[in-house]
Amino acid sequence: MAAFNTEKVLSVHHWNDTLFSFTTTRDAALRFHNGHFVMIGLEVEGKPLMRAYSIASANYEDQLEFLSIKVPDGPLTSRLQHLQPGDAILVSRKPVGTLVVDDLLPGKNLYLFATGTGLAPFMSIIKDPDVYERFEKVVLIHGVRYKSELAYHDYISNELPNNEYFGEMVREKLIYYPTVTREPFRNEGRITQLIETGKLFEDIGLPPLDPAHDRAMICGSPAMLADISGLLDARGFNVSPGVGQPGDYVIERAFVEK
Ligand code: A2P
Repeated sequence: MAAFNTEKVLSVHHWNDTLFSFTTTRDAALRFHNGHFVMIGLEVEGKPLMRAYSIASANYEDQLEFLSIKVPDGPLTSRLQHLQPGDAILVSRKPVGTLVVDDLLPGKNLYLFATGTGLAPFMSIIKDPDVYERFEKVVLIHGVRYKSELAYHDYISNELPNNEYFGEMVREKLIYYPTVTREPFRNEGRITQLIETGKLFEDIGLPPLDPAHDRAMICGSPAMLADISGLLDARGFNVSPGVGQPGDYVIERAFVEK
C-alpha cells in the first residue's frame, strides 16, 4: 500500500503575500486526533516532495485544511502557493504528533500558545467540543509580526462563537488573544513579554500561570518553544515526556522552513 493518499484541492485562500491556506478532500479511512500533523506534498520530478503540516480542520470534518507560509525559494512552498482547486496533493496516511489534549493532565484553564503558522493545530483544537468539556477556559494566544498574518481572525472572533452545535460553549469558554509585534494593534508584544509582565493575565482576567490550575500547548519556532517552555518550567510546570504520558503541557515545533 502506498504511504500517501492522493487528494484533490478544493479551495485556496491567500491571507496575504506570505501566508495561505487550502482545503482538500479527505480519504474516508484517514483518522486523526485534533492537533496531529501529516506529511503533505507534491510529486516533483517523479518523486514525492513532502513536508510536515499540522491539520487545521477538526477530526469530524469532511475536508482537510492546511495553513502554510510562502517561501519564495522553498522547495515545496514555492510550488504549493500556486495550488488551484482541482489540483492533486499527496497526504500521508498516518497522522501523528504530540500536541493532543489526551496528553494533558486534568486542569481548569487551557492555554494555547502559537506564533505564525503554529496556529494551525490549534484551529483543530478550538473546533473540538471535547476540549470545552474538559476545561473551564480555553485561551488562544496567537503572536504574529503583522496584522495581516492573523489568519482566521474573523472565523475565530465571529463564526466559531456562532457554531450551531457548540457555539454556546465557545462563547462561554474561548478567549482569543491575538498579538502583533511590528505594527500598532490592540494587543502588542511578544507572548513571552506578555506572560512575564503579567499584561496577558490582566487583559484576559485570569490569574498568572500556575500548574495547580493551568495546562498549556505550545506551537511555534524552535526559539519560541524554548522561551515559553522555559517560562513554564520556571513556574513548576512539567512537560509531557512523550505520547501517552500526560504532563502539564505539550509542545510541537511549527514546521516552517519549507
Ligand atoms: P518579533 O516580531 O519580535 O520577532 P516569526 O515569524 O519570526 O516566527 O515570528 C512570529 C511572531 O513570533 C512574531 O510576533 C515574533 O516577534 C514572535 N517571536 C519570535 N521569536 C519569539 C520568541 N522566542 N518568543 C516569543 N515570540 C517570538
